[in-house]
Amino acid sequence: MADGTKDAGSSNQMWGGRFASGPDAIMEEINASIGFDKKLYAQDIRGSIAHATMLAKQGIISGEDKDKIVEGLNTILSEIEAGRFEFSRKLEDIHMNIEARLATLIGPAAGRLHTARSRNDQVALDFRLWVKEELVKTDAALTDLITALLDKAEEHADTVMPGFTHLQTAQPVTFGHHCMAYVEMFGRDRSRVRHAIDHMDECPIGAAALAGTGFKIDRHMTAEALGFRSPTRNSIDTVSDRDFALEFLSVASICAVHLSRFAEEIVIWSTPQFGFIRLSDAFSTGSSIMPQKKNPDAAELVRAKTGRINGSLVALLTIMKGLPLAYSKDMQEDKEQVFDAAENLELAVAAMAGMVRDMTVRVDRMRAAAGSGFSTATDLADWLVREAGLPFRDAHHVTGRAVALAEQKGCDLADLSLEDLKSIHEAITENVFDVLTVDASVASRTSFGGTAPSEVRKQIAWWRGRN
Ligand code: ARG
Repeated sequence: MADGTKDAGSSNQMWGGRFASGPDAIMEEINASIGFDKKLYAQDIRGSIAHATMLAKQGIISGEDKDKIVEGLNTILSEIEAGRFEFSRKLEDIHMNIEARLATLIGPAAGRLHTARSRNDQVALDFRLWVKEELVKTDAALTDLITALLDKAEEHADTVMPGFTHLQTAQPVTFGHHCMAYVEMFGRDRSRVRHAIDHMDECPIGAAALAGTGFKIDRHMTAEALGFRSPTRNSIDTVSDRDFALEFLSVASICAVHLSRFAEEIVIWSTPQFGFIRLSDAFSTGSSIMPQKKNPDAAELVRAKTGRINGSLVALLTIMKGLPLAYSKDMQEDKEQVFDAAENLELAVAAMAGMVRDMTVRVDRMRAAAGSGFSTATDLADWLVREAGLPFRDAHHVTGRAVALAEQKGCDLADLSLEDLKSIHEAITENVFDVLTVDASVASRTSFGGTAPSEVRKQIAWWRGRN
């Protein structure tokens, strides 16, 4: 065949020496990974160029062969990028597709490229390079999302809203403070991303099939050329290890859980019943039958993406569980999980940043809700402790009676008269009303990390210095 591949029925050109016949059609189908691992073409070519350059420097192949190999690989790179490369399923995977094409382009010198390496260390290298690059992109995407949240938080450092526990009104907080809670979460995700990069920053190539090689290779040279801190230390571990993929997926899963919690809040906040925010048209859709509707589809999809991302983590954990050392073909199933999770995480983070930037915060609605539901009851109890010297447990009880009275009168705590309050406890004075408003309530919470606008502004400044 023109591309150097053999007809089905004859044995594999790359490893078929001891095989009399080719694979069954089903075998070919279950075995081939080219449908998805072609994504690794750039990493495969980079890895091969670094390997060939090292082989030449070590005198294992000639400089002339190395030049041909490098030139051929660069031609293949441009062929793939121009969409002119014909991927063949008979050649199983990206590694053999590229090597076979190299043979067609440069002849026998191509056969020297695979000296002192195996597809086992080759795939470990390619995939690690890909995951590392993806983590760098994730870092940037999270930084963008954090920036969007910091800007919203700054704009709304004084905007009061109800804080919830059990999704029941608890105490007034500021919307800025609420946004900053997500900054903390995505900030932790980003530091997990950085740790994962640091963890995986060791170069697999040169571990060969599993035992290393007798050729006098220089693994430090390839590690450096490919931007790794050092080569991996144990060749058996190197070809068996997919921790870098699992770490990517666990980082992605935790981040996806954060995204889905936020997405859920956006769905709730944008209902007419809550009405805390308005999503932009750019991030919502209409209904084909109900003209009044504006649906938070982007938030719902972000919430849903968590399912497949977390599913990918469970899938790969399950694939790896119980695999004996070293490489087993099971590990070929690692890539689709990671590719799918990466693609969807990227989308979800970008959609979330877009929604945050574009959303309109309905300050009046938030304020009205912040004041209802007796949200300043804790402030009354704290006042009784501070000003009237009551033990907190007694203050809690007295406040409960005040809440019951307000409930019975159908008003808020701040709307009770001084007489009403005095009838509950004689030590209550006029200045109790200073703490019963939502603004006074939030302004008083100046403890480190608290919701007071002054404190929230400090948190924002701290993060700005780290973003
Ligand atoms: N396509 C394979 C994978 O993704 C490459 C490694 C194959 N190694 C082997 N010994 N069959 O895992």
